[in-house]
Amino acid sequence: MSKISAAITAVGGYVPDYVLTNQMLENMVDTNDEWITTRTGIKERRILKDEGKGTSYLAIKAAKDLIDKKGLDPKDIELVIVATATPDMKAASTASFTAAGIGAVNAFSFDMDAACSSFLYGMSVAASYIESGRYKNVLLIGADKMSSIINYKDRATCIIFGDGAGAVLFESNTENLGLQDEYLRSDGTGREFLQATYGGSSHPLTPEAMEKGGQYAFQEGRTVFKNAVFNMADSTVKILERNNLTRDTVNWLAAHQANKRIIDATAQRINLEEEKVMVNIHKYGNTTSATLPLLLYDYESQLKKGDNMIFAAFGGGFNWGAIYLKWAYNS
Ligand code: UT7
Repeated sequence: MSKISAAITAVGGYVPDYVLTNQMLENMVDTNDEWITTRTGIKERRILKDEGKGTSYLAIKAAKDLIDKKGLDPKDIELVIVATATPDMKAASTASFTAAGIGAVNAFSFDMDAACSSFLYGMSVAASYIESGRYKNVLLIGADKMSSIINYKDRATCIIFGDGAGAVLFESNTENLGLQDEYLRSDGTGREFLQATYGGSSHPLTPEAMEKGGQYAFQEGRTVFKNAVFNMADSTVKILERNNLTRDTVNWLAAHQANKRIIDATAQRINLEEEKVMVNIHKYGNTTSATLPLLLYDYESQLKKGDNMIFAAFGGGFNWGAIYLKWAYNS
């Protein structure tokens, strides 16, 4: 019997209509388009403005896009995972609400949070369920409403993040396509440099905490930047070496869209040509768990069956890593 691998067989995506441009941010904080563009590569980001709509709204939209494109019966979905750092609420899970919203009535579901690496780790989890033979398909959605934890008076964070969602379907494959290898790591000593501190069990969101902006995400940008550059490049090199891949045999780099300079540094470390580096940070900013699936959403038509793809991410925790995946279809 041939080995079962876990392949991505469909992609969906969604970003809200509202566009927040660099020029608009110039009127909100002390910044300018030139600084944001040269330091981050971001020109605009999407924001979910509608009152009362949370991450599940984005996740459901992305999942429905996938379901419609694939012609999938939601009743056939076995597991729904929502990778997110901004769940609708502390409990119950965003995934269970999302599964109900798309009609996945025969699925079980749960959330996964590893900050900006949530989707990357989610790929590992989804693939494990398939490779073990336990389930035939898993719907993995990366979704974040980052605007819900951003202080639009803090220029260090508000210029970076945006809202969005992307979804992929993992299915069992017997042609050895799909996820091939992974290199995943965490270092919790880095959590002080990037966090949304309050609202959890160690730091309840009290009125006093809210007064000092405790509900918002904070980052020590320079430290996160240095660690991101080193670790994303390092895990990418490791995964290439372990799989005897070279710049010539890699077809695509799908790197977490946190900063264009971090993406470029990762690509340069493996000498990869610009045409093979997926980029959409200029349109969406950093959508946290949604960056990797939104790259697939934007580039899907260019991907060919058998393409060698490297996924890489780094984020709060710190959590990071790289995954090697063989693309499974022509669209
Ligand atoms: O996705 C999760 C992981 N997150 C990341 O990977 C983010 C990593 N960090 C970064 O991308 C970058 O550190 C930032 C984009 C956040 C900041 O860029 P930077 O090149 O590291 O800038 P910096 O923080 O070192 O600041 C340089 C200067 C400072 O002024 P002085 O001290 O040199 O006079 C800042 O005050 O730029 C100033 N500055 C700004 N100026 C205009 C900081 N933010 C802004 C701003 N507009 N928005």
